[in-house]
Amino acid sequence: MITAVIVGAGHRALCYAELAKICPDKLKIVGVADPLEDRRRYCREYFGFSEDMCFENAAELVKKGKIADAVINGTMDADHVATTIPLLEAGYDVLLEKPFATNMHEVEALDAATRQTQRKVMICHVLRYAPFYAEIKKNILDGKIGKIMHICTAEHVSYHHYTSCFVRGKWNNTKTCGASMLLAKCCHDIDLITWLMSGVAPVSVDSMGGLYFFNKANAPENSGTHCMLNCPLEKTCDYSVRRLHLEHPLAWNAYVWPSHAYTPELNNHEQRLKELMQPDFPHSRCVWKCDNNQIDRQSVIITFADGTVATHNLVTNTARPMRKIHIVGTAGEIEGVFDDNKFVIRHRDLDPSKEHCGNTEEMTDINNCGDTTGITGDHGGGDLRLAMDFVDHVEGKPTSISCTTLADSINGHKLVFAADTAMVEHNQVFFKDFSAEKEKRY
Ligand SMILES: NC(=O)c1ccc[n+]([C@@H]2O[C@H](COP(=O)([O-])OP(=O)(O)OC[C@H]3O[C@@H](n4cnc5c(N)ncnc54)[C@H](O)[C@@H]3O)[C@@H](O)[C@H]2O)c1
Repeated sequence: MITAVIVGAGHRALCYAELAKICPDKLKIVGVADPLEDRRRYCREYFGFSEDMCFENAAELVKKGKIADAVINGTMDADHVATTIPLLEAGYDVLLEKPFATNMHEVEALDAATRQTQRKVMICHVLRYAPFYAEIKKNILDGKIGKIMHICTAEHVSYHHYTSCFVRGKWNNTKTCGASMLLAKCCHDIDLITWLMSGVAPVSVDSMGGLYFFNKANAPENSGTHCMLNCPLEKTCDYSVRRLHLEHPLAWNAYVWPSHAYTPELNNHEQRLKELMQPDFPHSRCVWKCDNNQIDRQSVIITFADGTVATHNLVTNTARPMRKIHIVGTAGEIEGVFDDNKFVIRHRDLDPSKEHCGNTEEMTDINNCGDTTGITGDHGGGDLRLAMDFVDHVEGKPTSISCTTLADSINGHKLVFAADTAMVEHNQVFFKDFSAEKEKRY
């Protein structure tokens, strides 16, 4: 068993810390550092430790020296590197949320600190742990489709997710949150591509995209500025805050009402309605009249040293949330939809005695794979599997094929920064020459 302190006791850190409740023989949460009193109190009561193990921020924890084996760092994107480096220097191993850095300077600083301190930093690329992607990786390692020739991935960010987080929410502007849309949402997908291509260097990146729909020019005629106070179109608008977040049981409450999870007496319909009516409630703003600058579409093309080409499409405002993957190899192909939890492996087949169209199809349904771990939860069960692997990693035990050390994660993040640079400059970027000095942001 290892002990850990939560730094940044938000929605995400608590997903991983839940392992302490499910497997108390693996992880014990012994403290918390967070500026918000309600979050410190919640952790102290939920995990059962004393007041003197509560700290107002990461720096206050560092002053105490090393009081646990590890830290679960769930602060916001722009705080990751600034909070993690002193923790490494204090002797902690760190489970660090993605994106681990918001620019190339931070990538280089964290990489240097990790090498210098020789501590372990594991990045929360939870999708590598989702059985859907872990099973695909196993099939590739087993040589089921031969050598990869092409990878095509897509993330469809639904209209309710996109507007809650990237138009009205806390990731709506790169200047305030530090992360671009591709970094915030698709560093997972780009990481999956580099993980599947493990050992083969990226050569070039190109990317196109922009913000063309959620801007003032597209606001419907007569629309107001606040859904609840002055919009005559609210009753029928698909982005009405009342329809999205009060009447519909969609899953973005942690972003719309972040304090409600920690203070149950606030968690009721009347309170939610009261907040939606406030003139300055961010989620009541008209989606076409916000201070957002995140792109609403982007495509990325990556080439690798062995000739493999990978493409990723980030599409927002979709009716259905979905991640898709299609990998074509020299001996076969794999195609699946993460949200269906199923993929198919196809092979060429010219056997004239069979009734087919020139290929075989073998379906893997992750829902019916005989998984007896009973692990469920966010990201297809990836959150808890990742936390378990982190415990093994800290203890020096063998880890899974999904293990995400900092060194493994650097190429994926670097590709994201290179892709954003290519999009902003309308120019292909060569990976080998790409550095902090060449990075461009929107
Ligand atoms: N792995 C995933 O799939 C996934 C999914 C969603 C979000 N995330 C990432 O998880 C991270 C956390 O997101 P969240 O929604 O849980 O955030 P959150 O805002 O709910 O939590 C962040 C917490 O950090 C605290 N904090 C701020 N400065 C601090 C400091 N100096 N020391 C200690 N605590 C400090 C804040 O008070 C807050 O409680 C983000 O980087 C986000 O991008 C990852």
